[in-house]
Amino acid sequence: MSLPAPKLDAQPDERTTMELGECLPMTAEVIDSHLYIGGVDMVELAKDAGTALYVYDQADLEHRMETYREAFRTRYPNSDIIYASKAFLNKAVCRLVNKHDLCLDVSGGGELAVARAVDFPMERVFVHGNNKTSQELSEAIAAGVGRIVVDSRIEATRVSQIASEVGVTQDIYMRITPGVEADTHEYIRTGCEDSKFGFTMREDFAFKCVGDILDMPNVNLVGFHMHIGSQIFALHSFDEAIKVIVEFAARVKETYGVEVEDIDVGGGLGIAYTAEDKPATIDDFAQVVTDSMKKYCAEYNFKLPRLLCEPGRSMVAVPGVTLYTVGILKTLPGIRKYVAIDGGMSDNIRTALYHAEYEPVIANKANQPRTEIVTVCGKHCESGDAVAIDRPLQHPDLGDIICMFGTGAYCYSMSSNYNGQPRPGIVFVKDGQARMVTRRETYDDLMACDIDADLL
Ligand SMILES: Cc1ncc(COP(=O)(O)O)c(C=O)c1O
Repeated sequence: MSLPAPKLDAQPDERTTMELGECLPMTAEVIDSHLYIGGVDMVELAKDAGTALYVYDQADLEHRMETYREAFRTRYPNSDIIYASKAFLNKAVCRLVNKHDLCLDVSGGGELAVARAVDFPMERVFVHGNNKTSQELSEAIAAGVGRIVVDSRIEATRVSQIASEVGVTQDIYMRITPGVEADTHEYIRTGCEDSKFGFTMREDFAFKCVGDILDMPNVNLVGFHMHIGSQIFALHSFDEAIKVIVEFAARVKETYGVEVEDIDVGGGLGIAYTAEDKPATIDDFAQVVTDSMKKYCAEYNFKLPRLLCEPGRSMVAVPGVTLYTVGILKTLPGIRKYVAIDGGMSDNIRTALYHAEYEPVIANKANQPRTEIVTVCGKHCESGDAVAIDRPLQHPDLGDIICMFGTGAYCYSMSSNYNGQPRPGIVFVKDGQARMVTRRETYDDLMACDIDADLL
């Protein structure tokens, strides 16, 4: 794993923090050169709580939850928002999801366990995954989850067997792969034909499986699901995929006489990771999805189903930032300037994985223009360990506090202990108060699962 070739022509953008527009959490402000979020000074918070540190703007988080609900409900009353907890899950966010009456998508037993720990209503839980283990399925069925999104015929058989043993009938969806190439990075594209997820529509396989599943005892096919990818800017991909899934549901009705109640169009709305990114808004997304659903239901003579969508990134990415301290500066003339931080691929793997882009600022120089091009690299033993590659930054000095914007999704949830790095803590900030909602890991946590077996 290594970095891409240096962008030698990259120019600093001279922007100050507040000129980064949609990359900023809702309550971001600059007071006396310091960055504040939720009324809390990020420089002071870094000193008090240490770095690396995940920080969430709670007001922004809750605002996005409400915006999603309202955007859909006003256009399409019979709709629900399912928060895709794989983007970021701890007990605190799970409680907020419940408070705002959203549903919850869990991808395995661990995420389900978090939901259960905060008494999240199980009827609002949707269970995903392309290879849920029998144990996970048993736990989910016994817990009384609302829907299991079945990914294959093998899994449908398993769900049917387990539900029979428990003596319940489980509501399920089938995840269909609509064959639509979403306009996004190939690593996060999931609805195209070559995908490990869902029932392929090739050779009418998914359609034939509907018949098999309808014959299975103790499962009730109540909906179809699709998810075409993530970080999608081009909303027409959703229109194309909704056409496919509604046509499919209508054909199922015609052939099998079963009209499903729900259609779940997945998540995938993109966000502004950089100031140049121009994603669609939640309202734009809701408009396209609800218009498409109405249009194709009318076209295929299908009654309007309950419409569900499953946002993850567009709910939590922008409200979340990561704070780091600059420990080392290294300039390689004609190549790069490295700014080494006290975190990296262990708290944010996305850049090392697929060269994701982020906007960094220096929280203690937040009013200054970004006059340099730097690579914010991590502290791990990999050359490709970086969080922001060739991005503008204020002039860096040792001890500066870097704030990396847009790290609220798929960072903590994909974090690791590589190089024995304890995971950062998580702080929610709101109205001038900072609340630690997940503590920083300790060295003892690193060894918590080790057993002192007598091997010698
Ligand atoms: C099934 C499913 N639903 C929802 C999501 C959330 O997608 P996003 O975070 O892009 O909104 C994902 C992400 O991979 C997913 O796999």
